[in-house]
Order: sequence, then C-alpha cells, then structure tokens
Amino acid sequence: MDNRPIGIFDSGLGGLTAVRALRKILPHENIVYFGDTARVPYGTRGVETIKKFALSDLKFINSLDVKAVLAACGTVSSVAMPELKSASEVYITGVVEATAKKALESTRNGFIGIIGTSATIKSGSYVKYINSHDTSVKTIAKACPMFVPLVENGYSSAEDPVVKLVVEEYLSEMKELGVDTVILGCTHYPILREAIGTFLGNNVVLVDSGSESASEIASYLKENNMLSDNNENGIIEYYVSDNVEGFAENAGVFLSEEISGNVKKAHIDL
Ligand code: DGL
Repeated sequence: MDNRPIGIFDSGLGGLTAVRALRKILPHENIVYFGDTARVPYGTRGVETIKKFALSDLKFINSLDVKAVLAACGTVSSVAMPELKSASEVYITGVVEATAKKALESTRNGFIGIIGTSATIKSGSYVKYINSHDTSVKTIAKACPMFVPLVENGYSSAEDPVVKLVVEEYLSEMKELGVDTVILGCTHYPILREAIGTFLGNNVVLVDSGSESASEIASYLKENNMLSDNNENGIIEYYVSDNVEGFAENAGVFLSEEISGNVKKAHIDL
C-alpha cells in the first residue's frame, strides 16, 4: 500500500487524456499533474531541448513526493526515456510501448498508421517497437505539428471547419492507403478523437496513447502492491508553468468539470 500521489506530466493539456483514463481505472488514487504550458509545444524542438525540458519537468514532479511517474507525452517518451529513467527517484514509464503494443493487437490487415509530433515521428519510436515485434506489419507515419497548437488554443470540436481542414490535410494519405489502425501517438491527439474518427471512418481503430499508458501504470501499481487504501475519490492537483486561468478553462472543458480551484502555478526554473 502506498498513499502517495501518482505524478503525471506533459508539455500542456495532452497528458490530461491519461489523467482522465487513470481516473476511471483507479478513482481512489491521488494524482499530481504538471503541464509545462510555458514551453509548449515540445514536438517541434530539437532532441537536446526536449531532454532538458523533460528532466526539469521530472525534477518538479519528483519534488511533490510521488510514488510513480507517467511521462504522458509522446515526444518526451520518444526521445528522453533513458535519461528520465536514470534521473527518476521512483518508477517512471512513458507512452510508446503500451500504445504500440495495443496497435499490434488491434490491426487485422497488418497496416498501421502512426501520427505524432515532428520529434516523435523523426525518432521512429513507434515504428521501431512495431518492427521489432512483428516484421510483417506495414506502417505509415505522419507528423501533425498543427494539432498541438489547435488543442492548446481550444480548437477540438469535430464540427469546427479549421479542425476539419487540418485533419483532412494530415490524414488523407493514410486513409487512401487503407490503414485499419491509427496510433494517436501524441497525448494531445485523443482530444481531437472525434474529428479524426469521423474523417477516417468507423472501420479504423484509433489507439489512444493517453489511455493505454494509464492502463500500464495502473497495472504496475497493482502488481507491486502500491495502490492507495483511500476509500474516497482521490484528489487531483494541477500545476502549470504559465497562465493558470487559460489552462483551467481549457482543461475544465476537456475534463467536463470545473477545476480552477485545483490549478496552481509551478515555480520551476525555465
Ligand atoms: N502531448 C505531447 C506529446 O504527446 C505534445 C508535444 C508537444 O508539446 O508538441 O507529444
């Protein structure tokens, strides 16, 4: 038994897709979330910068006395996991392995599409995992750098003409080529799930990096007897490195609950 909170971080709102999923699986757990809103987006930056940001995010999360950490960011998980594992005081996991594993289980025609930030796609992280587990599976990978700014600025509705246009721009090729499974390899992208799913059609399975990674960390805590014995609903505290109000508003819409009282400014060295 361990009553300390679970730490989750991302560059901004995206990791909330993991928070929402974890909340459903383990409602009694306390969670601390950090969104590095002062430095979002990460995915268009170089590898060394992403590693530096990821290490400072981890330092902040570790300072909150957490029992385990989820790097709920496809970009960080793709380029900085070895550094994070060496630096973390507690168990830490990312999103790539659990998500790619699920995609391999889901595909029927052996053709998987992968979408992520530019840094994630350039790293080849998801493709490497897939190829090392099944050489017969074909993949097509596409960077979608406009998705994160859309989400961070509150554009996520499947009816929104700007969202529709950007989704079509990025996903037409893989749709035409006939993928049957698409990895939402950035944790921001499940926020666009309805728009992406509507465009690709019902026969394409969308694999959500937020919820797959939440399941993974939940399994780790169960297997290692590290769940809390709290009988009440857990508390979620949110920290951001920039504008508290903007985050509270967008996050509240996404989570369908009012969270402004639980969002605080994180004092970290930027
Ligand atoms: N949610 C992050 C990811 O999963 C977004 C990265 C970014 O800030 O560009 O990749």
